[in-house]
Amino acid sequence: MIQRWQYFRGSKVLLRACINPLCLSAQIRRTNTMSKNPAAQTQSTSSGQRCPQAKGLETLAALVQSVEETPDPIPTTIKGTIPEWINGSFLRNGPGKFEFGKDRYTHWFDGMAMMHRFHISEGQVTYSSRFLRSDSYVQNSEKNRIVVSEFGTMAMPDPCKNIFARFFSRFQIPKATDNASVNFVKYKGDYYVSTETNYMRRVDPQSLETKEKVDWTQYIAVNSATAHPHYDREGASYNMGNSYGKNGFFYSIIRVPPPEVNAVKADSADLSGAKVICSIRAAEPRKPSYYHSFVMSENYIVFIEQPIKLDLLKFMLYRIQGKSFHKVMTWEPHYQTVFHLVNRHTGEESKVKYVAAPMFTLHQINAFEDNGFLVMDMCCGDDGAVIGDFTLENLRRESGEEMDEFYNGLCRNLPRRYVLPLTVDEMTPPDHNLVTLPNYTATAKKTKQGEVFMTHEELYDDELMQYGGLEFPQINYDKHNGRPYRYFYSCGFGHVFSDSLLKMDVQTKELKVWRYPGLFPSEPVFVASPKATEEDDGVVMSVIITPRKENSTFLLVLDAKTFTELGRAEVPVNIPYGTHGVFNEMG
Ligand SMILES: [Fe+2]
Repeated sequence: MIQRWQYFRGSKVLLRACINPLCLSAQIRRTNTMSKNPAAQTQSTSSGQRCPQAKGLETLAALVQSVEETPDPIPTTIKGTIPEWINGSFLRNGPGKFEFGKDRYTHWFDGMAMMHRFHISEGQVTYSSRFLRSDSYVQNSEKNRIVVSEFGTMAMPDPCKNIFARFFSRFQIPKATDNASVNFVKYKGDYYVSTETNYMRRVDPQSLETKEKVDWTQYIAVNSATAHPHYDREGASYNMGNSYGKNGFFYSIIRVPPPEVNAVKADSADLSGAKVICSIRAAEPRKPSYYHSFVMSENYIVFIEQPIKLDLLKFMLYRIQGKSFHKVMTWEPHYQTVFHLVNRHTGEESKVKYVAAPMFTLHQINAFEDNGFLVMDMCCGDDGAVIGDFTLENLRRESGEEMDEFYNGLCRNLPRRYVLPLTVDEMTPPDHNLVTLPNYTATAKKTKQGEVFMTHEELYDDELMQYGGLEFPQINYDKHNGRPYRYFYSCGFGHVFSDSLLKMDVQTKELKVWRYPGLFPSEPVFVASPKATEEDDGVVMSVIITPRKENSTFLLVLDAKTFTELGRAEVPVNIPYGTHGVFNEMG
């Protein structure tokens, strides 16, 4: 029975569970709430309790409706000024179709991937969009019903089959979806769209044309990859995926080399040279942790094994019972959070285990090394049981009490900082705070040989609470990823979907805010100006949508330094609430 799991590509379907940027999408259940872990019992008030409760929230139904694609670029109306030095395309991904024929998806993540492109040149902007022609999209379209299972929706057996064939189809292993609706990622100079299964789709970033399906398992021994790779300054890509086999369950760190210099570029996917540089054994092979991204500094990668557990046996049971997969994760705070430190040049894992109180994280902000310490900033929640179930039914709740109830039951993610001492050995004294640098209040103590217990520093002031915490962090990535930095940009979550844009100074914890009632911004992406001398010389872009008025979308361009509007490009289309995006300088 267990051997069959490898045909599930490890937990590839399970892993789609958490593409939600705000919190985990799945309804994560608490197990063993009377934790045996003393660290878990000494947590302060949860982040959700610290944020104000909402009242009278408006419905978001209009932001999760199917839309039409716009394959040919259309002009936009410019208000204000779009700086002439911006040349390239702002690409965004997200679900855009929620039904086929009479069949309806039940979960937000199940929606078919739609790619959006705002092409910016000489102060003008055009817009285009296309559905990803994934196998899921094509097969569903041909049959005019849902024939491929997604994360929260099981495809029903073909009604044309006889009763026996329909019964036995329940026991067939489902294929992973290639509905890559989470992010645009880059390998060896090519753009792909990605979700969290073993499949990606190469795409043309100009025409948004769908290219070939790429299967990670054909290149290396991993059964999945996250939608959040990191990139080094030489052009190599790093990612993490699961490997599962008779030797156990491993979290694998992948490196894909840069494109070869002077090589003739073929119009085909190329992940050749990809290698697993480190495999980290899961603490429990049948209950691995979910992860959505990871940390990379100049010399290290840190994998965070968090107490959100994927129950592989339950997954199999649900399959047999014909249930969807989105309730197979559990919040298990009797586990600590374990930070695995890996040298990214040698692939060697540190023998020191860094542990912290239970927490969950989806998106890291940045990490950097500072005089023998590794500083890690990330968006975290401290009660994974207070998680929303992002079904379309919930997201389409009516304004007022119904929506308030849903929002007020959600977690709030807040930025925090951990500081890992990099030199810990037998001579290190126990029970002393090893974080000796004066500008950090995070702590780290050696508790026993080979183990360090950490507490974090809150990376915000109380002002952040009125914006509902934050998620979707972005930085000046090209210049500052893996290095010391001062600013990050993010979305505030005063509603179930983000309703503000925030700029935070991590030195002073000062906030700058863009927020207007009824406007819902996407993840902000920073683009440096060509003559930038300071970290925040440039613009921040976000796509703004509203449920209040049809066809009233606009691309917002903010001055990154002052966080004030420079201009906007209005486009008469509806765009559903999306996931992640990138800026493509190549046009
Ligand atoms: Fe994400």
